[in-house]
Amino acid sequence: MAELVVALDVNEEKKLEFFLDALKGKPVWIKLGLEALSAFGYGAIGRAREKGFKVFADVKYHDIPNTVGAASRVVTRAGAMMFNVHCSGGAAMCAAARKESEEEAKRLGAMRPIVLGVTVLTSIGSEDLVAMGFAGGPLETAEKLAATGKAGGLDGVVCSVHEAASIKSKLGKSFYALTPAIRPAGADVQDQKRIATPAAAVKAGADFLVVGRPITGASDPAAACDKILEEMDSAVQQLTRLNSIISSGHSGV
Ligand code: C5P
Repeated sequence: MAELVVALDVNEEKKLEFFLDALKGKPVWIKLGLEALSAFGYGAIGRAREKGFKVFADVKYHDIPNTVGAASRVVTRAGAMMFNVHCSGGAAMCAAARKESEEEAKRLGAMRPIVLGVTVLTSIGSEDLVAMGFAGGPLETAEKLAATGKAGGLDGVVCSVHEAASIKSKLGKSFYALTPAIRPAGADVQDQKRIATPAAAVKAGADFLVVGRPITGASDPAAACDKILEEMDSAVQQLTRLNSIISSGHSGV
């Protein structure tokens, strides 16, 4: 069952508190990324955890394995239940993130965080990849990067909805796909390029759907969040009905 991750890309204290209070009690993860963590420090992870949220620290580490490994220990200590690195840092760097975070969690007697790898940013299109010297398009590049992450022991990847099904079919159903660039029908696309609706993401098999501005920019963020949760829920129900029709057909009923 896919889970909703709300991206709180804010840098003002009162906004962070406002959104944490507005979303309190909802079955969502909170994503704190570069903007929020730069503004508030890793203490913000603990603050969101105290309010009852699971927290995804979207730190996107990319450095030599030793440095990423050490930073992975820090973000684990801060209370992140999920964090990420760039797959393009290589399998050894991904392995350091996985190993060091696991060891740190063990030392603390906590559950190890889920470690994901960023494949191709959803703001990057085919023409950008060509300009940067990549030989393949977004799907081929994302698949190669995902395989690198998996070789390093990562739990899954950050990818667009358009790549999720293919990556999962190649690397395994239990290999997580966290998909940003989710836009409910009719919502402003902003700087995202390879977008999809919440229902399409669920149907593509995404495990985590990241939604930021369609919720944080809404006049009523709690209501916007509920609407997306409802859309996800009805997509899950449709899928369940479809699967039961298929399986009853197979059993000859
Ligand atoms: O506001 P919006 O829904 O576009 O927010 C998407 C969030 O997901 C942002 O915090 C962005 O940093 C993050 N993200 C992304 N594309 C990726 C990885 C992370 O948009 N490939």
